[in-house]
Amino acid sequence: MEKKLKNGFEHIRYVRPILSEAELIENSKMFYSAMNTRRTVRDFDTRPVPLEVMENIIQTAGTAPSGAHKQPWTFCLISDPLVKRQIRIAAEEEEKISYSQRMPTDWKNDLKPLGTDWEKPFLEEAPYLIVVFKQSYGFASGEKVQHYYVSESVGIACGFLIAAIHQAGLVTVTHTPSPMNFLSKILERPSNEKPFLLLPVGYPKAETYVPDIERKPLEEILIRF
Ligand SMILES: Cc1cc2nc3c(=O)[nH]c(=O)nc-3n(C[C@H](O)[C@H](O)[C@H](O)COP(=O)(O)O)c2cc1C
Repeated sequence: MEKKLKNGFEHIRYVRPILSEAELIENSKMFYSAMNTRRTVRDFDTRPVPLEVMENIIQTAGTAPSGAHKQPWTFCLISDPLVKRQIRIAAEEEEKISYSQRMPTDWKNDLKPLGTDWEKPFLEEAPYLIVVFKQSYGFASGEKVQHYYVSESVGIACGFLIAAIHQAGLVTVTHTPSPMNFLSKILERPSNEKPFLLLPVGYPKAETYVPDIERKPLEEILIRF
């Protein structure tokens, strides 16, 4: 392997094959078409999913870029029905209070077309839950290590994770029960880790419906200079 020193550190040669313009267009179109079929699904089948699939998906999330390459993420993978039950009970407790007391009217009105409420059966029905934690700081040889752009890095890793779940042929819902500290307690995470997202993963129910919503067209999201 060809190597070069920069600041006294080894760099390895990186080669990415140069594709034709036609191939670039084809690849980018195909990926867009595939991603455009992704939908948030809230009705899960209990059908099991091989553990290897989940490990591949999480490994894909771990390929995300991160501030100063600190990789400030932890993915907890849960299939134990007792742990899933604990998470559902705690999430529903918080969501019940959120829907009845914490959420302002505008927010509740914005959620109406999505059909969500405090009940979260998917937290038990989905064969797996992934709870993503962001590490505010890390540890190396018992010493505290600074992390940078933690939310940006973990957000990008979650984007990779969601894309990998979809590409594998499964579905998820990006769930953010608020507040989420119950996840740290149930999963016994250390104090440098904060819960970021909760993603049930599995197959959709045989008959599943999703909200009839539109995505903004390119002209609305793109400004050319
Ligand atoms: C940061 C974030 C938090 C979300 N939180 C929830 C949630 O708590 N519960 C839920 O049912 N959906 C949640 N969603 C899913 C959105 O409602 C969904 O992505 C949106 O309605 C668009 O639908 P689509 O994903 O099918 O395109 C969340 C999405 C994001 C990105």
